[in-house]
Amino acid sequence: MAVETDDKAQSGPKHVAVIMDGNGRWAQMRHRPRLFGHHAGAKRIREIVEVCPDVGVKYLTIFAFSTENWKRTQTEVSGLMALFRKYIEKEAKDLIKDGVRVRFIGDRIKLDEKLVTLMDELELLTSHNDKVHLTIALNYGGRDEVTRAAKRLAYDIEKGKLTHKDVTAETLASYLDTHVLPDPDLVIRTSGEARISNFLLWQSAYSEYEFIDTLWPDFTAQEFCEVVGRYGARDRRFGAVKA
Ligand code: IPE
Ligand code: IPE
Ligand code: MG
Repeated sequence: MAVETDDKAQSGPKHVAVIMDGNGRWAQMRHRPRLFGHHAGAKRIREIVEVCPDVGVKYLTIFAFSTENWKRTQTEVSGLMALFRKYIEKEAKDLIKDGVRVRFIGDRIKLDEKLVTLMDELELLTSHNDKVHLTIALNYGGRDEVTRAAKRLAYDIEKGKLTHKDVTAETLASYLDTHVLPDPDLVIRTSGEARISNFLLWQSAYSEYEFIDTLWPDFTAQEFCEVVGRYGARDRRFGAVKA
């Protein structure tokens, strides 16, 4: 029994995914515009990326903008898009230097050309890095991702590249935006909301969840480490019964 506990303590989550929620409420509490909260939230990312290697987290995936977030006001949406551009321009140098490999998931078709160019460049410039794999979900929705994957799969069947008999869970997963990433072991959502909001629906089938009351701009690297540390105490069974 003691051996099993030790094993668990050593096996922290390799892939942590975060729903960074609560920026708007954080700003409202300060009688400031919602975008003020988004800017404060963006500043939190760096220290959390930096601490990942210390707690054994190799993959960090963050939800920055959902396929449903277009429903917000024009001011908020365009402010967020400007923030994403600014964020990439400002952080690129350090991300490259610090060994962070950056990837983006989500549908790029609706994003403006300048932003997509910056995203492509950052992916390319960090493609040899391997210290931490940071994936940013931008115009991402789980249902949209599965739909786009199914469409490409259907197209390949139409073209005769494969037949319906080749369609397995693995084949479908290979068409997802996340095809090169392992499934998340732990999904954290800040701000006290206990829902998935269309994030990594397929990939989080067996993820552990942590719903934290802290609003995202107040979520420190220390709190991230505490949440990650708690994961070791969980018993993941994947549907089986352990002896
Ligand atoms: C999360 O914070 C960031 C994005 C969705 C872009 P919110 O903007 O959803 O903040 P709340 O939930 O309104 O407080
Ligand atoms: C989820 O948060 C999306 C991101 C964090 C980018 P939302 O604030 O958009 O989710 P709901 O509307 O509360 O479900
Ligand atoms: Mg929210």
